[in-house]
Formats: sequence, structure tokens, C-alpha cells
Amino acid sequence: MDKNAPQAIHLKDYAPPPYLIDTVDLAFDLGEDVTRVQSKLAMRSNPALAPASATGGGPLVLDGQDMRLVSVALDGRALDPSEYSVGPDSLTLPNPPADFILEIVTELRPQENTSLSGLYRTSGNFCTQCEAEGFRKITYFLDRPDVMARYRTTITADAMRYPVMLSNGNLVAASKMEADGRHTVSWEDPFAKPSYLFALVAGVLVHIEDTHVTKSGRTVALRIYVEPGNQDKCDHAMASLKKSMTWDEEVYGLEYDLDIFMIVAVGDFNMGAMENKGLNVFNTKYVLAKPETATDTDFLGVEAVVAHEYFHNWTGNRVTCRDWFQLSLKEGLTVFRDQEFSSDMHSRPVKRIADVQRLRAAQFPEDSGPMAHPIRPDSYIEINNFYTTTVYEKGAEVVRMIHTLLGADGFRKGMDLYFQRHDGQAVTCDDFVAAMADATSVDLGQFRRWYSQAGTPELDVTGAHDAAARTYRLTVRQSCPPTPGQPVKQPFHIPLALGLLDPSGADMPLRLAGEAAPAGTSRVLDVMEAEQVFDFVDVAEAPVPSLLRGFSAPVKLRFPHGVDDLTFLMANDSDAFNRWEAGQTLATRLMLDLVADRAAGRPLELSPGFIAAFGKILKDPTLDPAFAAQALTLPSEGYLGQQMPVIDVDGIHEVRAFCRRAIATALRDDLIATHRALGGNEPFAIDAAAIGRRSLKNLALGYLMALEESGREGTEAVELCVGQFHNAHAMTDVIAALGCLADTDLPQREVALRRFYDLWKDEPLVVDKWFSIQAMSERPGTLEEVKALLGHPAFEIRNPNKVYALIGGFAGGNPVRFHDIGGGGYRFLADQVLTLNALNPQVASRMVKMFARWRKYDPRRQALMRAELERIVQTPGLSRDVFEIASKSLE
Ligand code: ARG
Ligand code: ZN
Repeated sequence: MDKNAPQAIHLKDYAPPPYLIDTVDLAFDLGEDVTRVQSKLAMRSNPALAPASATGGGPLVLDGQDMRLVSVALDGRALDPSEYSVGPDSLTLPNPPADFILEIVTELRPQENTSLSGLYRTSGNFCTQCEAEGFRKITYFLDRPDVMARYRTTITADAMRYPVMLSNGNLVAASKMEADGRHTVSWEDPFAKPSYLFALVAGVLVHIEDTHVTKSGRTVALRIYVEPGNQDKCDHAMASLKKSMTWDEEVYGLEYDLDIFMIVAVGDFNMGAMENKGLNVFNTKYVLAKPETATDTDFLGVEAVVAHEYFHNWTGNRVTCRDWFQLSLKEGLTVFRDQEFSSDMHSRPVKRIADVQRLRAAQFPEDSGPMAHPIRPDSYIEINNFYTTTVYEKGAEVVRMIHTLLGADGFRKGMDLYFQRHDGQAVTCDDFVAAMADATSVDLGQFRRWYSQAGTPELDVTGAHDAAARTYRLTVRQSCPPTPGQPVKQPFHIPLALGLLDPSGADMPLRLAGEAAPAGTSRVLDVMEAEQVFDFVDVAEAPVPSLLRGFSAPVKLRFPHGVDDLTFLMANDSDAFNRWEAGQTLATRLMLDLVADRAAGRPLELSPGFIAAFGKILKDPTLDPAFAAQALTLPSEGYLGQQMPVIDVDGIHEVRAFCRRAIATALRDDLIATHRALGGNEPFAIDAAAIGRRSLKNLALGYLMALEESGREGTEAVELCVGQFHNAHAMTDVIAALGCLADTDLPQREVALRRFYDLWKDEPLVVDKWFSIQAMSERPGTLEEVKALLGHPAFEIRNPNKVYALIGGFAGGNPVRFHDIGGGGYRFLADQVLTLNALNPQVASRMVKMFARWRKYDPRRQALMRAELERIVQTPGLSRDVFEIASKSLE
């Protein structure tokens, strides 16, 4: 590889910082062209490294990028440029003393910062994003999470343009407007923090306010800041915040620690949100919600992300990461916490199913492709590329397994010990696991491999019943495919939750050979070996095993269940997750058979027994409608593709559409009855029950619209759909109808799309939905429409949400059109990646990831995708972000 190519950095090279920073005094002078930043750092050599000496700790290398250095002073004396050196990414002082004050002045141009990292403009306001390494674009600093300092931030700006000026901590001073029209505020954060948690916001903002009284009786002011006109969409975020605060007190005994907690919503943001101490900055997508503009998914997203960022105050801020290889320490743990919170607020099985679907749709492919990495990576070129579904969602699964192994009480003990040991520190994943093990004496030695080994383990399980001996033997074999840099894996410690169903469908008492008495009817086996047997005794009749209940480990499980067993589990399993799972396994098997039939030119027929099982679920009044909607959703095209050695893009698409039509044809009356029973405009509520009713209603609508082209039935479905589009009040119902229409060639399609845009053109988040619905349309002309939409006045390539909606919606949400054999979709995506590369590398890199799985396709598509990746890699001026993904994809 060429020696100018960006270099990887490695976990094994970690070294503690040679200097520490005790306090940071920042003064921002925000201007229309130039922003001036004065930074005053109280520094000393790191006593952990060497006894303090007069000569200090050797060279001091501060990180810094994309700014102009104005001056440097040491202990009050201005330094001559010969006394330091400035590189493209650093400022070096050759030999500072052991203890000193460093003053640095820099100048930045935030209005030209399209990367949305560091200090930038959004809707005329100023805002920061410092995780992971954005602070170094504000001032020269030891921009690494193990350098924790106390910050004081002073902001001066024009009082009319920037009436609101915020930073971390508490407001400690505010001036009136001066003669020059400017005003000044100062904020002080009493908690030491790494630079990635710094935040500053200034501009025209309005806020809603509430309070939370902590369990120890302190009153905390809660504020949500938004652009004027959005105040009416903040109530759900505020309610979610209050619930999160109460939940963390009840479940973990964790209270908020400042007098004020602020959330600011901004329209231009690369990710979902950011947990800056006392001043969370959010993508508007995860704050603004009212029934008319936000879908149920949006409401749930707001609740989960508000909770997630709030929970970071303890898991991330009070205890932070030593280095970025440890990112999952805070992200995996905090995702686990927000998942548990949402489970407690709504339905646990429904939430679990949704989380597992998401893991399988995004993380499993990542874990078996060129970007596969352990939840604690060994190396990276660009850390922003490692805010991945592996670090986040698989990281959460790893924490969940610890929770399973320790039990809720043990886990709580472990968390208590973790905070007792590490409050105020920057620590590692090993420290977390050690606290969990030490608090409970559970041996997590082998379990630690989950942190260092990549790849999705595979469990092959078989069962053998011995009627004479009344025993049932489960044989469990585990393996894990090779991943980049890891050809061979050691066995994992896998908690395998299971039950055995007797022929009546009831759970049997479970007793393993050697045990005195049965221990419950659902239990967790410790799978530790490459091959292991478990002998159950007192098993009179052959049981049907229910394995991996609740998805107790992030693995792929295979068991030779027959069709009858799967149908039996669908109907009887006491574990709701596995009832759903049995249906998915059955559907996957049948659909893959149909894909093979189609490829062989055989006629397609969907098993009547399967349709009948679907009909039973649809008509079962005892089922939670939300669960029924999940159970009646066929596996996605992406999931089916993952099960094939070579993805048959067109075959999968056609078979899935065929199955939907077959189900709709057979169950039409029941689907209409379901839609009617759950329809009507009931008063809007955002509780689990109301959400569930809407999801089942819209599932029924989707099936009925599969009949769109079938004569009279089709006409009726279209009438139902158009009626819902025009009459519904809740965005969930409007979008469900519009999504169906967007897949058709009906004249009503254009009418609906135009009307929707006219109604909502002033609501950017709703316009995003309009873009993504068109981008995901399965119609053959979609690519041309997407290209045309790039020129639509509402499209803005500098706005990440717009890119994710239109370009991401097409490349990531429309397999049959993106992977069109002509290759036009691939060329389009590569062109967009190159445009974005120059503007916003993080967004470009998220888009180029859509090529990563190119080896899973047929030779023709492989060649086309490979050519685009090569074109990207050979482009001069490539960001590290895009280079890393594109080059690793080609390896
Ligand atoms: N810590 C944030 C969260 O998960 C994510 C911010 C990451 N941003 C980035 N540019 N890498 O809540
Ligand atoms: Zn997070």
C-alpha cells in the first residue's frame, strides 16, 4: 500500500498521556467570519509516569486541525515561533516545565465547516460536536478521553443574533448588552471531563422548561431549546427525559448531578445525539414530535435517544473511556440501558423482537463482511468509522449476556461496584468486566473473548430422546467464521436460555443429570466448549425444544426443527420471542425454497399450512396487536439475502411480493376486518396499546395493497388506502398509506405525493419522509426520480438528514433498485460518495459502507461494485473516513 496512505493506530500502542490538564479556561469571540478562541490551560507532567521533575515530561504534542494559530504563551510569556512547531495536525512544545500555564489563541471559520465536527453553523446558529475528535478543531489540546479537566467557558457574541449562549455546567456570569451590541456569558462545569464532552451553542432559540425533583430531594431545571416555531413539538421529549431520570434512580440508584439539564435540537447533525455534560445536543429528528408530524417509530426513537443520552451522564460521563478502543464501554452499556428502559415503558417482547431484527439487519452483515471488528476493536484508521452497530448494538448484547449470567441483582451489584471504583475515571472494558465479576464471584474469564473476537458465533444444536431411559440429550456445537485478521476463534462463553415443551405445549420442569431436583421450566445453560452435551432426565415424552429464548446471545442458531415443530412453537411457546422466532424461521425456510423454485423455473406456491397459521394469528383476539403485527411481517429482503451464499436480488424481491399477494388473497376478508376494527380516527395516544393497534392496522393495509393490481379487490384496497391517506390525522397512518401508494403506478400516487409535499414543505423532518418514501419505491424508474430529487429545492446535500433520507433511503432501503443489474445505482452512489467526501467525510463514509457487502452478489454485480470502489479509492484527496471503508472493502 502506498506510504502516503492513512495509517492505522493500535490498541496495543496505548500509552498514558505525558501531561495532564487540570483546568481549561475558554473564551470564545463568535464572529460572522472569524471566531477567536482563547484557551488557558493549567498543565503538569503526568505524575503516574515519572516522579515530578523540574524538566517536565518531555515534548508536549497538542492535537489541532483546520485552524489558524494566533499566539502561544507559557507562564505569561509570549513564545516566539522558534520555540514551538506547528504541523498539519499538531502543535509541539519541545520541553515544557513540570507545571505551567499554557495560553493559546486560535482563529476558526465555523461557517465554512461542512464536516459538522468541531464548531459549525446550523440555521444561522453556532453549535459544536466534539466526539470523537472535534475539540481539536477548536483549539490545540490533548484531545483524548483520558485527559479530564474542569472547564470554564466564556462566550461573547452579538446580542441580537445570539441572544442564547450555552455551555456545560452552570451559568456563573452574564453581562447586559455592551455599547458594541455584544454580550457575554460564562459557564462553569464542576465535573472534570474529557474534551469530547465539551459543548457550546449560541443563537436564536426558544425553550420549554420543566423540573425534576431527584429522589434525594434536589430540584433540577430541565430545558429543551429549539428554533422558534418548534416549541409545540417538545412535550414528548420532555416527558421522556423525566421518565428516564426517574427510571435511572429506581433501577440503578443514579441521580442527576447538576442543577440544570439542557437539550438543544439542531437540524444539521451527523449522528442521532450527543451526551455533552449538562448540554446534550440532538438531531431534531430525536426531539421534535407531535402526532401530525411524527410517526410512532419517531416517537419511540425520541424516547429511546433522550433516555440514551441522559443515561450517558453516568455511563460515559462520570465514568468515561480511557481510549477510543473502549468505545463500547459506554455505548454498549448505554444502549443496553436504553433498551431496558424502553422495555419497561412498553412491551418487553415487542421491544426485544424489534432490537433483534435491527441487530440481524445491520450488525450480522457487518460482522460477516470486510469491516467486521470486535466490539473492542484492535485498530482503526478513523475512529468515527467505529461508531458502528457492532460497538453499539452487539456491545449491548454483550452487556445483556452479563446481565443474564449475573441475574438482575448481581448485575446491579456489579454496577454499584463499577461506580464505586471508577467514578471520575477514564477506564477500560476490562475494568467493567472486572467489577461485574468481583461483585458477584461469577467467573467471566472466558466471557471476555466477546470483547476481542469478531464474528457471529454459530450454534448447531441437535436433540436425542431416549424413551426407555427417559432422557433427552442436547448436543451443542459452536463455531465462528473467520473475520479479517482473525482466522481462528476460541470458543465463546454463550448463555443459552431454553425450555422443553411437552406434547401439550406446556413447559417441562428441567432437571439435568446429576441434579437433585428440577430447577424451573426455563433456564440458562453455560455453553463454553466447542462441543458440549447436556443431559436432561425425567423426560417421558420427546420434547420440542425452545432454544435461545429471548435471544439470550447474539448468535446464529440451527436446530433441525420440522415444519410441524415450528408451527407448534408458534402456537405454544411460553417465550413470546421464540413464538415470533419460530414463525420467522418457518417463513425463511419456505421463502428460500420458493427462491430456488423460481430459479429452477418451477411454479410458485405458498404452503396453505403457513397461510393458515398466519390467519390464526390475525384472528386471535388474545394477542397483543403489536406482537401480531411483528409475527405477521415476513422476513425482510435483506435478511433473506443473508441466508443465501449468493444473494438472488430479483428472486428474493419477487418471491416476497408473491408471498404477500398469496397471503392477502387468502386472508383478504380477515385483513379488511382487522383494518376496519382498528381503523377510524381514535383519539391519539402514544402508549404501547395504541401504537400496537396502529401497527396491526397498517400491516393489514400493506397486505391489502399487495392486491392493488387484482381487479375489483385491487380497486377496493386502493380506495381504502387513498381514504386513509386523506383522512388520517396521525402521521403514522398517513405515511403507511403514502408508502403503499408510492409503490404503484396509480394516478393517485402523484396526487398524494404532491399534496403531502404542499402540506409539509415547511417541516424539514416531514420532507425527509417524503424523500425517503420516493427513494424506497420499488418502481423501475426510481433511480431517475432520485437523481431528479437531488435538484429539488428542498434537497440539501450539506444536511445529513436529507442525505440519509434520499441517498441512504435508495442505497440502503431499496435493494431491488439499488442492485439493478445495469449498475446505474452503483454509479450513482459512488458519485454521491465522492461529492460528500469533500463536504462531510463522516456522512460520505456512512454512504460508502453500502458497498461493503459486494462479495455476496453474483459475478456481474460484484464486478460493477468493485469498479466503483476502485474508482473511489483512486480518487485524490480522499478523507481517511472514506479511504478506510473503501480500501478495507476491497481487501
Ligand atoms: N456519543 C454519541 C451517542 O451515541 C454519538 C456521537 C458520535 N459522533 C461522532 N461523530 N462520532 O450518543
Ligand atoms: Zn451513546
